[in-house]
Amino acid sequence: MVDDVHEKRPFISKLPMEKEDLLLFVNADVEPKTKYVDELTERVRSFSSRQPSAVVGIGGGSVMDLAKAVSLMLTNPGSSADYQGWDLVKHPAVYHVGLPTLAGTGAEVSRTAILTGPVRKLGINSDYTPFDQIILDPDLLEGAPADQRFYTAMDSYIHGAEALRGKFINEYSRAYAEKSMELCREVFLGELNEHVADEKLMIASYFGGLSIAYSQVGVCHALSYGLSYVLGARHGVGNCVIFSHLEEYYPVEVREFRTMVAKHRIPLPREMTKGLDDHQMSEMIRVALSLDPLWQNALGPDWKKIMTPEKARELYLRL
Ligand SMILES: NC(=O)c1ccc[n+]([C@@H]2O[C@H](COP(=O)([O-])OP(=O)(O)OC[C@H]3O[C@@H](n4cnc5c(N)ncnc54)[C@H](O)[C@@H]3O)[C@@H](O)[C@H]2O)c1
Ligand SMILES: [Fe+2]
Repeated sequence: MVDDVHEKRPFISKLPMEKEDLLLFVNADVEPKTKYVDELTERVRSFSSRQPSAVVGIGGGSVMDLAKAVSLMLTNPGSSADYQGWDLVKHPAVYHVGLPTLAGTGAEVSRTAILTGPVRKLGINSDYTPFDQIILDPDLLEGAPADQRFYTAMDSYIHGAEALRGKFINEYSRAYAEKSMELCREVFLGELNEHVADEKLMIASYFGGLSIAYSQVGVCHALSYGLSYVLGARHGVGNCVIFSHLEEYYPVEVREFRTMVAKHRIPLPREMTKGLDDHQMSEMIRVALSLDPLWQNALGPDWKKIMTPEKARELYLRL
């Protein structure tokens, strides 16, 4: 499964395709939906009566998550929407391999495949979700538009910030988060050539993913899920917009983030929540506040007393 943005790129002709291999170009114009996962799974099933020996995903976080989800759905009955949650998957997935072409989400290493379903945006979180194998090749990052490259890279910077400031932090997660953030600083505050920078970004993303694998994300990600669910905002850019308003929770990191935004002249959308009706706003708050582990990590076991629906609304209105 290859992101269709790469359809004309030279590496496509170098893929070692064999007879009976299926090359699926998949679309990431919008973030993955459960319906799309179910359709792709059906296409793989109808291609051959045999189970594939492997699923390979080549693309950004969206396509890697699609590949993870399809590999799970090939061995588990029903719709992918039935598995959005924690540890609902019963059977091991088909062997699956990931190759990122954008760096930052950590999807190459995480135990989740994030999907938007009929009721919520929530990952298929399970021990069977992580890739069996990954290939990190910085050359694949070539050609990403500067804004998209920045938004996705900041996902790993924010993973680091939320892990380090969270209650679930431990020495393992701290070590990876610190290194991940340091690499992001070298890339976006230093003066590196793009090739060296891409290699650093790839490891920043991987380490950011390793860090949250044993800790958790926080305020920015919880709000970001609500924003994506209601407005379809993409993860990277949505995170960046939210994070820039979260000085209250991540003071030093937000200031440093703003310096990186300014240095690279990255546009951040404004007034995203202006004009939302009451129903949309309550849906956004509902989705955000349903992410209990994220709030526990950010604010502790009594988080409901702190992050009330009114407070969440106030934060959303800042965007
Ligand atoms: N599983 C996880 O742990 C995890 C973590 C964070 C985010 N995510 C998910 O990842 C997605 C976001 O991923 P992302 O930020 O990597 O972006 P993406 O995969 O959504 O891609 C963004 C855009 O960039 C294009 N693109 C990808 N690689 C490119 C390249 N090399 N050159 C030019 N264009 C390229 C895509 O076609 C798309 O239009 C969201 O769906 C989010 O929910 C998953
Ligand atoms: Fe993220």
